[in-house]
Amino acid sequence: MATWLLTGANRGIGLELARQLHARGESVLAACRSSSTELDAVGCRVVEGIDVADDRVGEALDEALGDEQVDVVVSNAGILRRDAGTGIDIDAAREQFEVNTLGPLRLVNALLPRLGRGAKLGFVSSMAGSIGDGPSGGNYGYRMSKTALNMAAVNLAGELEPREIYVAVLHPGFVRTEMTGGSGNVDAADAAAGLIARLDELDASRSGSFVHADGRELPW
Ligand SMILES: NC(=O)c1ccc[n+]([C@@H]2O[C@H](COP(=O)([O-])OP(=O)(O)OC[C@H]3O[C@@H](n4cnc5c(N)ncnc54)[C@H](OP(=O)(O)O)[C@@H]3O)[C@@H](O)[C@H]2O)c1
Repeated sequence: MATWLLTGANRGIGLELARQLHARGESVLAACRSSSTELDAVGCRVVEGIDVADDRVGEALDEALGDEQVDVVVSNAGILRRDAGTGIDIDAAREQFEVNTLGPLRLVNALLPRLGRGAKLGFVSSMAGSIGDGPSGGNYGYRMSKTALNMAAVNLAGELEPREIYVAVLHPGFVRTEMTGGSGNVDAADAAAGLIARLDELDASRSGSFVHADGRELPW
């Protein structure tokens, strides 16, 4: 049994991660801003008040976790603010950087001291942030926030290699959640199962790569 800490665990992909990990007997710390009836029903530990956009998120985590170690961190919380077609929305871009890019960095700052050899960091990013995939326009803030997250994650993978802490950059697929308004070609349960499989197989040889939940390696 390992201790997994997930952000954004109250709904969507994060909720499914919590469900499946708890069901297979892992110790799950389901972090969220506010819980949901669905998350409460899972039966895992829920850590409320974890807003990754808040500079004090580290203090909130310290208070909730005490001296507990963590084996796997899944930085899943994220937002999508679609550009409305009236130009690039600068305020929305700033907001998405706060949550999607700086949020995971705050999480790393807070949790690194709790990670030992063999620990894993999974960053739920998006193909929308892939430059190599040939972006087709729109959603500037979302795309850029995920591209920048990818850089941070790969940078960390190199830095953490000597400590034998491994990093995965993950794309869950096009998933039917609130973020997509229910559109998509995969359910959150299947996406979560794939993400867990990718984290289970994460090791030194795979650290620092960008992978789809289905196992395909993706272009940066
Ligand atoms: N769905 C897709 O097709 C898709 C594709 C590629 C990547 N992704 C990525 O997958 C991840 C999960 O997305 P999803 O589809 O499950 O979206 P979702 O259903 O909209 O869930 C987003 C989660 O993030 C949380 N969150 C938002 N802002 C937060 C903040 N400041 N602090 C802490 N938690 C915050 C939400 O909590 P609240 O309820 O408190 O808002 C919610 O738990 C995101 O990083 C997203 O970018 C999704």
